[in-house]
This record gives sequence, C-alpha cells and structure tokens, in this order.
Amino acid sequence: APTTEYQAESATISQGAVESNHPGYTGSGFVNLDNLVGSYVQWTVSSATAGTQGLSFRFANGTADARPMDISINGGAPVSLNFPSTGAWPTWQTVSLNTALTAGANTIRATSSTANGGPNLDKLDVTGPGDTEKPTA
Ligand code: GCU
Repeated sequence: APTTEYQAESATISQGAVESNHPGYTGSGFVNLDNLVGSYVQWTVSSATAGTQGLSFRFANGTADARPMDISINGGAPVSLNFPSTGAWPTWQTVSLNTALTAGANTIRATSSTANGGPNLDKLDVTGPGDTEKPTA
C-alpha cells in the first residue's frame, strides 16, 4: 500500500497557527502550536482497510527540550510520542509509531502535553498495511 501525505496546515488546528518562516517544510507551511498543554492538530485519514498502519510525523523542535505529544486515534486513550530537539527550527525530522486504523475515516489527534507546547508540525505520513517501504521523510 502507498504512503499518503497529510499536511498539518490542511488539518484541524486548535491553538496554533500556520506559518512558513522556517524553511524546509513540505506543502505550503507548517503548524506552530501554542506553547501550552492542550494545543493540537487533528488529521482525518481515510483508510481502505482495517489494520495496522505506520504514522510518521515530520516536525522541527529548535529548543533543547523534547516536546512530547499525546497521540489519540479515533478519540481513544492517548499514547505519548516524544519529539526530541532537532537542534534548529529549519531542521526537520520524523518520529513514527504503528497503530490500528479502521476502514473508512479515522481521526488522528496530536496534542501538546507540556507547557512548552508541541513542536512545529509539517505533515503526517500514513503507510498502509502490507507496505514494506519506510514512510517518506
Ligand atoms: C520560535 C519559533 C517558532 C516556534 C516557537 C516555539 O518562536 O520561531 O517557529 O513555534 O519558537 O517555541 O514553539
């Protein structure tokens, strides 16, 4: 199955802004989440089949401190995912996890879990069941 890109700037944003002042993003910009607990980006991802899929978040964190986020699928119990320092705001990396999606529409919400807020979020790549490729950077 292919990897599908979902830009953060096209997702639902709560307490954050679309910006483009740091280079290296894909699409038309990235989301700068407010620096507080609870700011989030929520994507709606359409899956042809139920099964385990790879989620890869492309982000930048120009501070020294990690900015963990709670990842919730379809409103379920959140899983904490670490977003470490990337050293500079124009330096982008990915962090990934595998999760079960249902057939049809799925919501994937990434919520800041510390007072520093989340990292700058560029996009989410979703890699479907049976895919042996790595998610694209
Ligand atoms: C800086 C940076 C922003 C970033 C922010 C933050 O202001 O320019 O892109 O979002 O720090 O700490 O979250």
